[in-house]
Amino acid sequence: MSLPDMKWSGIIEAYRDFLPVSEKTPVVTLHEGGTPLLPAPRLAAALGIQSDLYLKYEGLNPTGSFKDRGMTLAISKAKEEGAEKVICASTGNTSASAAAYGTRGGMKVYVLIPKGKIALGKLAQALMHHSGILQVEGNFDAALKLVTEVSQRYPVTLVNSINPYRLQGQKTAAFEVCDQLGAAPSYHFLPVGNAGNITAYWMGYREYREKGKTAVLPKMMGFQAAGAAPIVLGKIVEKPSTIATAIRIGNPASWHQAVAAAAESKGLIDMVTDEEIIAAYHMIAGFEGVFCEPASAAGVAGLAKLSKQGLFNKGEQIVCTLTGHGLKDADFCLQSSQKPAEIVKSKSDLLKALGF
Ligand code: F0G
Repeated sequence: MSLPDMKWSGIIEAYRDFLPVSEKTPVVTLHEGGTPLLPAPRLAAALGIQSDLYLKYEGLNPTGSFKDRGMTLAISKAKEEGAEKVICASTGNTSASAAAYGTRGGMKVYVLIPKGKIALGKLAQALMHHSGILQVEGNFDAALKLVTEVSQRYPVTLVNSINPYRLQGQKTAAFEVCDQLGAAPSYHFLPVGNAGNITAYWMGYREYREKGKTAVLPKMMGFQAAGAAPIVLGKIVEKPSTIATAIRIGNPASWHQAVAAAAESKGLIDMVTDEEIIAAYHMIAGFEGVFCEPASAAGVAGLAKLSKQGLFNKGEQIVCTLTGHGLKDADFCLQSSQKPAEIVKSKSDLLKALGF
């Protein structure tokens, strides 16, 4: 490893020239970003894809999801502006990230989550970082509406992705992909929930091209869960439903920007069923040794769906962002795995299990 790699100290230091910060901005960081872009040849072969396939493993961020990229900036700017309280609505990952970064910045964090619909690991993170955990009986959309209204009238800073600093931070993932590949890929697949991340990636790729860092731009390929696919259906989904709780959203905040990203890049926004998401989730872990949470597999599920149409060619690069770590939702993993552990009572049982 070279010395610059070992000195990685987060996305604000790495991409300062591209971000709305000054020397006066107090940087609140857990050294997020710098995540690996892993070649995935076994997964590509299993999907029958000739192109080079890569996984941008965002589960390796400090709180286990891509949200940390946006949160370091949103919290640093909130601190610069003197905020004492921050708030967000969340399906789990934003709250985990806000809790960690807000605490590190010396602020009080409040998170509003849909009751019973967030993965336990994420709830544990918000608890551990001493945030005020509040629940709504409704869904994420209702929670977001509430926190938006309150933050407009009271001295509490909203750190959902409608806070523009969030997407500014998240766009650095696109910079990293270009820096790691040497140019933007042909296709970029990712899950779509509140639609901030696809918006941020597209902003990042375009900025990098304007600065001459990549000559090409990728097609942006976003995937919603079929039970929570307002953008695909063209209308708000009042009661979104999917096992991929992170993207259980019926009225995304960045809806129009996401549609624009897909249209401008000649990509698409489509949907995948829960069965397709679960199949992809197991394939990623089973073929590549990479464990992501169910929602994170929606992009790969989309790739699997389109690969049947023979769209992808040799010489093209495909990047799939895996947005969050699998350990966030260990419950779901155990529920959806077919095989319980075998009991071993003797050496002969063990030898039999090993196939000897
Ligand atoms: N994947 C994961 C693991 C997520 O947590 C989210 C969003 C997405 C994908 C979708 O990203 O919203 O930018 O389109 N989670 C938010 C949250 C909503 O509250 O943690 P998006």
